[in-house]
Amino acid sequence: MDKEFLDDKEIIVASNRGPVVFKHDDKGEIQLIRGAGGIVGSMIPFLKQTHGTWVSSAIGELDQYVNDKYHGQVPVPLEDPEYYVQFIKTEEDIYNDFNGKFANPLLWFIHHSMWNPPYSPCGDEELHEAWESYKYVNSCFAAAISRDVARSEKTPLVMLQDYHLYLTPELIRKQHPDVLMTQFVHIPFPPPEIFRQLPDRMQVKILESILTNNVLGFHIPRYRDNFLNTIKQIIPTAIVDDISMDIEHRGHICHIRCYPISIDGPTLQKQAQEPGVLARYSEVEEMVGDCKLIYRADRTDLSKNVIRGFQAYDLFLEKHPEWRGKVKFIATLMPSRQDIKIYQEYTDKIEELVKEINQKYGDRRWQPIKYICQGDYELVVALLKRYDVLMVNPILDGMNIVAKEGSIVNDNNGVLILSTGAGCYEELKDGALCINPFDVKQTAESINTALLLDDKTKKLLISNARKALKNNDLNKWVSDQLNDIKLVINEKAKICSDETPEEARLELN
Ligand code: G6P
Repeated sequence: MDKEFLDDKEIIVASNRGPVVFKHDDKGEIQLIRGAGGIVGSMIPFLKQTHGTWVSSAIGELDQYVNDKYHGQVPVPLEDPEYYVQFIKTEEDIYNDFNGKFANPLLWFIHHSMWNPPYSPCGDEELHEAWESYKYVNSCFAAAISRDVARSEKTPLVMLQDYHLYLTPELIRKQHPDVLMTQFVHIPFPPPEIFRQLPDRMQVKILESILTNNVLGFHIPRYRDNFLNTIKQIIPTAIVDDISMDIEHRGHICHIRCYPISIDGPTLQKQAQEPGVLARYSEVEEMVGDCKLIYRADRTDLSKNVIRGFQAYDLFLEKHPEWRGKVKFIATLMPSRQDIKIYQEYTDKIEELVKEINQKYGDRRWQPIKYICQGDYELVVALLKRYDVLMVNPILDGMNIVAKEGSIVNDNNGVLILSTGAGCYEELKDGALCINPFDVKQTAESINTALLLDDKTKKLLISNARKALKNNDLNKWVSDQLNDIKLVINEKAKICSDETPEEARLELN
């Protein structure tokens, strides 16, 4: 990474979920735990390198306590800090409306085109109230970040993450018109007709706010193009340049760019050789026995399409009885957003379906599905090393890191079944059997095909995937964003120098 460029920058990252949470251990001591979610893994190496600050929501009471103790600059780790965390605390009911009603599920469902228009979303009073909470939490983030910007001794660079903070940039921009600011959207962006499911004033407010960033990043051109089309329809006063992918709105230019997020392959490969993972690998071998292993690792999010994945497996066992007793589906599924009713119902449905399939085909010697409802990382890596088939069938998914991790770390020439709705589809399509995530029959047949593929074809697929991933690692994801920021700085410098003669003339007068 460009050390010289970063040396005089103060990095301020912000996201709803932070890189750490504080909890009490068994002895009542305060313990620092790494936060969940993909953003954490992708930003921590950069934050460590730049000793920056990460602004995030306080999830539990202890986060707030530690935040106060360190006056809003919590060193991480506490003894020998590599970077700092600042927690934003909002009242519980406001936070629940912000996250549990507005960001997840409303915005999340819209971005993943998952609503059911005859019934939902419903712009009722509850939703409009939740919007007020969304505005409020965003204003708290903006106030904290603006304070950090104001007291920064270096050039601040604000890097906002994701859809929870759509209203934050405009509020920061009002206070700091010249601050360098980027926002990266980690999830898909929907086509305009889906974005229009939001009440009108919310559409406009969100779009106008994110256009105040200097750079707005999406994973892939599909999402960027949806965004550009949405702007054309909803903000007609914005000037969209389809060649440069820049948008001018109210005299400000926002560069719309793609940065497909990736993984740190070498580090993952090293982890895969560590004793903890090797021990779990032996456990996996025992669980699988002589069977072929189909594996999936997901949060129990509706967008992940877990149910159709199991329905496809059910159909596969029905149509191909020759595989019964010879294949095992292991799923490590992290319960997610269980405070939201539809998520709870979805997790329950998954469990029911697993039971049903196990009862239908299983016996005392063989159970077709093993459902592990936790995210033990060493176990996940061991399973990724061992799988014969990896099921990645989301309806839509910003990128899907599991498909990339599996392709890098698997040492069994495993076959990736990949949904066309995954953001990594474009990168990995030549290294996978691709499916329409809605087509259960096709998915079932793909399982059979994957299990029957000859070694040569399997090797070819996985080496195609690895080739695609070689050119795009996590470091590139960050450095491409920094390079675009450098261009913004150069543009600003050019505008200043173009303006100088005029200003000089005015002064002379
Ligand atoms: C996705 C989003 C993140 C979010 C994560 C987990 O990866 O892009 O912003 O943090 O899901 O969701 P949760 O609601 O548990 O934070």
